[in-house]
Amino acid sequence: MIRLAVPSIEEDDLLAVREALASGHLVQGPRVAAFEREVAKLIGVPHAVAVSNCTCALHLALLALDVKPGDVCVVTAYSWISTANVIELCGARPVFVDVDPETFNIDVGHLEKTLEALMSSAESARRVKAVLPVHTFGQMADMRGVSDVCERWDIPIVEDAACALGAALHGRQAGRWSTMACFSFHPRKAITTGEGGMVTTNDDTLARRIRALRNHGQDPDASPPDFVMPGYNYRLTEFQAALGLTQMAKLERVIGARRRAAAVYDGLLAGTALQPPRTLAGADHVYQSYVALLPARAAGRRREIIAGAKAADVETQLGTIHMPVTTFFRGRYGHRAGDFPVTDAVAATALALPLYESITPEEQCTAVDVVLGLVG
Ligand SMILES: Cc1ncc(COP(=O)(O)O)c(C=O)c1O
Repeated sequence: MIRLAVPSIEEDDLLAVREALASGHLVQGPRVAAFEREVAKLIGVPHAVAVSNCTCALHLALLALDVKPGDVCVVTAYSWISTANVIELCGARPVFVDVDPETFNIDVGHLEKTLEALMSSAESARRVKAVLPVHTFGQMADMRGVSDVCERWDIPIVEDAACALGAALHGRQAGRWSTMACFSFHPRKAITTGEGGMVTTNDDTLARRIRALRNHGQDPDASPPDFVMPGYNYRLTEFQAALGLTQMAKLERVIGARRRAAAVYDGLLAGTALQPPRTLAGADHVYQSYVALLPARAAGRRREIIAGAKAADVETQLGTIHMPVTTFFRGRYGHRAGDFPVTDAVAATALALPLYESITPEEQCTAVDVVLGLVG
């Protein structure tokens, strides 16, 4: 089977986890602190706060901004469902924005129109707490455009950088364009801790709040322990952080291999019925996924194509989720097909091809041949 994703786990990773387990110190200790320092150094910010996964990271980022019932957060329509769920879990309303057809990232023109409408009355303007662009599949959103629009009304940006550790735009790292950024270390990302997440920020107060919120509301500096707010247990374990440290050392290598594999796919797909993804000028894409578009005529057969490919030992997957038309968000807010026409088209035709560090050009050739044969 040519798998969709294979994490790059090697002997040093196994040893590091073993050593952490053998130490007897299993939860949020020196390895977590060291992992946080490594991520902060890479992004170039003073604070990185490790949490159990990126969904927790996004949840805490919004809570730290005091997102609460009655508020509004503006978010791309096309992402993994947690980007919208966390808004709803804070009691706020996600206002969705359609995406760009080529990069699958939030469309800045639509974002501007959405914010103009929301900010046009004082009553609705005071409810707008954050904008959440997503760096879809590892390519950064047009953050110059997003920042320009958000600066006009001084709205905080929370980057959903779940897929984008190591990505950059115009030489500036993902995580450096916002009030806070959230990263994932799920096994389908370039590097993994099994489950794992991180919030990064320049802001001392927000970092402190997130450190308290992830640990039952405990003041991170108080001794004896004191609890200054109701909080969660969203901590990372020491053995996950030990893995995070060995994985961080491989990040550049893994991203390099994924970029080379993406270039192989670009070549294989050129002139075929499958449309390769487009990279923006100035974007350093990290290819968390390589997502091509099926021709519109094959959209209704995607499930069949995925099953057929699996029967031929090639694992593929749909891209990500058209969040507004999932059962929950459709039922709650009445979204329907046609409200987000670009997301409708992308979500119906996106197909993720196998991509991981050790995939060979021959395996990629087989994967493309199998999919093209099924597309017909
Ligand atoms: C864009 C995006 N946001 C958030 C998440 C949630 O990350 P996690 O699985 O670490 O909670 C994911 C996970 O795939 C994602 O792709």
